[in-house]
Amino acid sequence: MSEKFHHVSVMPEETVNGLVTNLSGIYVDCTLGGAGHSKMIADRLNEAGRLIGIDQDISAIEAARERLADCRCRVDIVNSNFSNLESILSEQGAESVDGILFDLGVSSHQLDTAERGFSYMLDAPLDMRMNQQADFSAYDVVNSYDMDELCRIFKEYGEERWYKRIAQFIVEARKDAPIGTTGELVDIIKKAVPAAVRNAKGGHPAKRIFQAIRIEVNNELGILEEAFRTAVKHLRPGGRIGIITFHSLEDRIAKNVLREMSSSCICPPSLPVCVCNHKPEIKLLVKAAVASADELEHNSRAKSAKLRIAEKLA
Ligand SMILES: C[S@@+](CC[C@H](N)C(=O)[O-])C[C@H]1O[C@@H](n2cnc3c(N)ncnc32)[C@H](O)[C@@H]1O
Repeated sequence: MSEKFHHVSVMPEETVNGLVTNLSGIYVDCTLGGAGHSKMIADRLNEAGRLIGIDQDISAIEAARERLADCRCRVDIVNSNFSNLESILSEQGAESVDGILFDLGVSSHQLDTAERGFSYMLDAPLDMRMNQQADFSAYDVVNSYDMDELCRIFKEYGEERWYKRIAQFIVEARKDAPIGTTGELVDIIKKAVPAAVRNAKGGHPAKRIFQAIRIEVNNELGILEEAFRTAVKHLRPGGRIGIITFHSLEDRIAKNVLREMSSSCICPPSLPVCVCNHKPEIKLLVKAAVASADELEHNSRAKSAKLRIAEKLA
């Protein structure tokens, strides 16, 4: 792997053990990153196996290409958004696959590269685009969203208690000049959040606002349900989907979609008898597993991670 690309994979053994059941199979990593999980998958596959890795971030693609250069199995790397999973699988001639992985969110590399503008700890231009070619960035959210739009994303995606005050302070501050950097935004947030709250435990005052803006810039939640359904649709019977989430909003979507697809009844609870005739498509194998104490000791990023694995039924 490129020496410059830092990311420690979360729950690597649990994920790969749960996902890979066919050593000659086709596996799709929808969030390739630096290919941590992918390299482990590829190392298990034999010459007949195939790995398809997808990432929207070109620097992740470059690092993964390097890391996966000498694999025994066939490797195909696709620079795209996994919201295009349906067409990617069709273009790759892989309509039916053995496993699909989603390790959501940003990589440590993205967070730690100051100029990507993801971190409230590093001063840089407001950016936060996972796809460097996209023409919509954190700058646009912070400088063009009106008060109501800012309130909505801070409340919904940041679950931030002081959403209204922070939105007000942003709208006020940008009257003088556009807000250009993460540092300026952090200063505004700090002024908006009362000192007593700011100094209490609960993390950096900008953490939730940065999460909210990042989710908005990359439409992180809006594409999940359809992507998970598309993934399950393209699994062979016995094939598996693995999903690693990092915050409650994305985890709720994963939990609800998998629960619905694994249920034999989706009637409203108020109905006395089942009328839906719903057929379960998957069986849940791993429900919200968390990292071991040992892993948490060397990877703090694993703290909020939850792993879910499900198997496609025949
Ligand atoms: C947590 S990292 C993956 C790390 C990887 N599993 C590893 O072990 O090295 C998430 C990666 O997914 C990518 N990503 C997030 N959302 C995406 C999307 N909708 N489409 C494509 N790539 C996405 C990010 O750019 C990032 O590189």
